[in-house]
Amino acid sequence: MSGKLIEPFSVPARAVPTRLVTSDGTPVEDRCLLDGCENDSISLMALDAVRSAQSAHLLLHWDSQDVGLRQDLSDLYDVDSRSIFLCSGGMDAIRTAFDVFGPIARNVGLCKPDWPGFHYFASRTRKPIKFLDRTDYPYIISAEDVAGFCVSTEVELIILSNPSAVTGRVWHPDEVRAMLLAAPETMFVIDEADSIYPESSSMSLVREVENVVFLGSLSKFLGLSGLRVGFIVVPDRAREAFRNTIDPIGLASVAIMASRAALSDTAYQRTTQRETAENRGRLVDAVAGTPYRVVPGSECFACYLSADETVPDPYESLQNMGIELVPGSLFGLPRGGRLNLRNKRRIDRLVTALRGLADPTDRWSSEARTRTG
Ligand SMILES: Cc1ncc(COP(=O)(O)O)c(C=O)c1O
Repeated sequence: MSGKLIEPFSVPARAVPTRLVTSDGTPVEDRCLLDGCENDSISLMALDAVRSAQSAHLLLHWDSQDVGLRQDLSDLYDVDSRSIFLCSGGMDAIRTAFDVFGPIARNVGLCKPDWPGFHYFASRTRKPIKFLDRTDYPYIISAEDVAGFCVSTEVELIILSNPSAVTGRVWHPDEVRAMLLAAPETMFVIDEADSIYPESSSMSLVREVENVVFLGSLSKFLGLSGLRVGFIVVPDRAREAFRNTIDPIGLASVAIMASRAALSDTAYQRTTQRETAENRGRLVDAVAGTPYRVVPGSECFACYLSADETVPDPYESLQNMGIELVPGSLFGLPRGGRLNLRNKRRIDRLVTALRGLADPTDRWSSEARTRTG
């Protein structure tokens, strides 16, 4: 022995762009909270499932690889249920994917901007990190760009979000397939946590290609952030590694029950999709012809608001009016911020504020300023 105690290993903490509530669940004051990327309403069927819990749900360990829930996901995503592994939220899905591939990869690729939490897991591999940088407006990264980057920099493992957790843009299965085929020596971890259209997921590509695993979450579209349910979809060659690595007791019993209920609540899901699309339309109409701009193409709750140089940073202007976005700085972007499109009342308040910022003589603007201070 060297006589010295080893040091604890650490990397910079995870930056999670969402607001956390404390155990009494108190909603945060009178600010217009557009930060976070979650649903704003729950499935009542999921709530009923939680309420139906019996003592066994509290006393016993439950098998995390629940056959019924895996089958539900298998039906929804059109993949073999044996290729699906359940885990404790998207966060645990990322950790597990890095447990499986991180030790082997010689380097790791990340996109900039992307979900800031990825950096933590990449750092923990202690391997060199290579960045694909698109930090100029409109911050759009194409699947073709990613494939070219992976090949030219010889990245062995890359993680990225689809939809983008910054702009909400989605690559559709044909683009994803082309990307995977164009960089066959890169292992892709594609995080679909923010998707609100399971029907246009790329997950079934694991049946065709071997260099990808997909991650999913029931936190957002299905409104179950507090219950911590996520999943991983893998190609055949990776099944055994994931089966051996996954936490066999990581899922809570009531979380499994609520997940099955939320997945079967298609009326709730359709309402979420319709209202989110309507809110996006309202915001896009409101910024037309103003210095403010919304990165085009969002197909989920996430959407990025920026502005040209004729006006101050909209993140700050809106914050002064009581409206909270996730600051661009969290994604490495100079101006603007990410906002959540789910809630009509909050989007209406944002639209009113933007109208006022764009035209300070507008009657709405003075009312908005008076109300919010
Ligand atoms: C891309 C992405 N991955 C993972 C997560 C973590 O989600 P979960 O609540 O399922 O752990 C989030 C949530 O903010 C996310 O946006």
